[in-house]
Amino acid sequence: MRSDLPSFPLSLLPTPLHPLPRFSAWLDAGVEVWAKRDDLTTLALGGNKLRKLSFLIAAALAEGATDLVTTGAIQSNHCRQTAAAAAKAGLGCHVVLRGQPDDRPGGNVLLDRLFGAQIHWAGSPDTQPLMARVLTDLDRQGRQPYGIPLGGSTPVGAAGYAYAWMEMAQQAETLGAAFDAVVFATSSGGTQAGLAVGAGENGWEGEIHGISVDHSAGRLETLAGPLTEATAELLEARRTHPIVVHDSYLGGGYGVVGEPEREAILALARSEGILVDPVYTGRALAGLFDLARRGFLKGRVLFWHTGGTPALFAYEAELAA
Ligand SMILES: Cc1ncc(COP(=O)(O)O)c(C=O)c1O
Repeated sequence: MRSDLPSFPLSLLPTPLHPLPRFSAWLDAGVEVWAKRDDLTTLALGGNKLRKLSFLIAAALAEGATDLVTTGAIQSNHCRQTAAAAAKAGLGCHVVLRGQPDDRPGGNVLLDRLFGAQIHWAGSPDTQPLMARVLTDLDRQGRQPYGIPLGGSTPVGAAGYAYAWMEMAQQAETLGAAFDAVVFATSSGGTQAGLAVGAGENGWEGEIHGISVDHSAGRLETLAGPLTEATAELLEARRTHPIVVHDSYLGGGYGVVGEPEREAILALARSEGILVDPVYTGRALAGLFDLARRGFLKGRVLFWHTGGTPALFAYEAELAA
């Protein structure tokens, strides 16, 4: 696999990899759970998007970009990390968010503002028309905008997770920790595509379980499958790992906190002092509980913590009770 894709430094790597002994005992399902702490990537309270943005920003700078333009949900972790990364790279930042300004303020929206991003409210779930307009307006003003699609899930962005797999595999080898399965939150498919390329290249034989937070398994496989192929081609990787998506944990829909997410947040917080978020990692951990309790996970299981914890502060009403 190519290892020379240009990157812009946003994180001090590697992120920690460690066991969760009290959490594994609490789960009591015969599995030993470990965490890969991508909630501790360096900027902006961390998260998986910084790994993608390192490569996307290098590409933007190579094209002479002056501004980043991206999009997401109101409480988008991707937009928050893009805003911080743009600040560090000396670029302007425009984020196009679904919904209205007062739908769910605080959390990531507050941080978008602190990092100096200009927020554009789409007023609807479809942000593409407004994103296109923002790009055109910046062009007309003589700027050089660089558009980053939802989640930064392009082959260049997903490459960040192929390299992340290699980082984790090296740590696991040093620690003598062979994993039987990996569980993580999947949505726009970029993290999953990158992991599939890294694990394939590595010849790993365990299972990668993507817990969907919003899409049906079929839809996500349609997103992640071609992205995996394109990322493998970009990186000249020889093999890819199968894409497995679980869509049984969608509960009340995207961003709706139910009892499984609450249980997951409280269990990890009270056994290990580690936070997961209400939208992504809480749902993925709830999926891990269920798969483990039903006997679908065995041995040593890696929970790949993809971040998202600032969104906790936008869900006070649901979580404080
Ligand atoms: C905390 C967190 N975990 C997981 C994901 C899913 O990553 P991907 O969009 O690459 O599927 C996201 C995406 O926004 C996220 O914010």
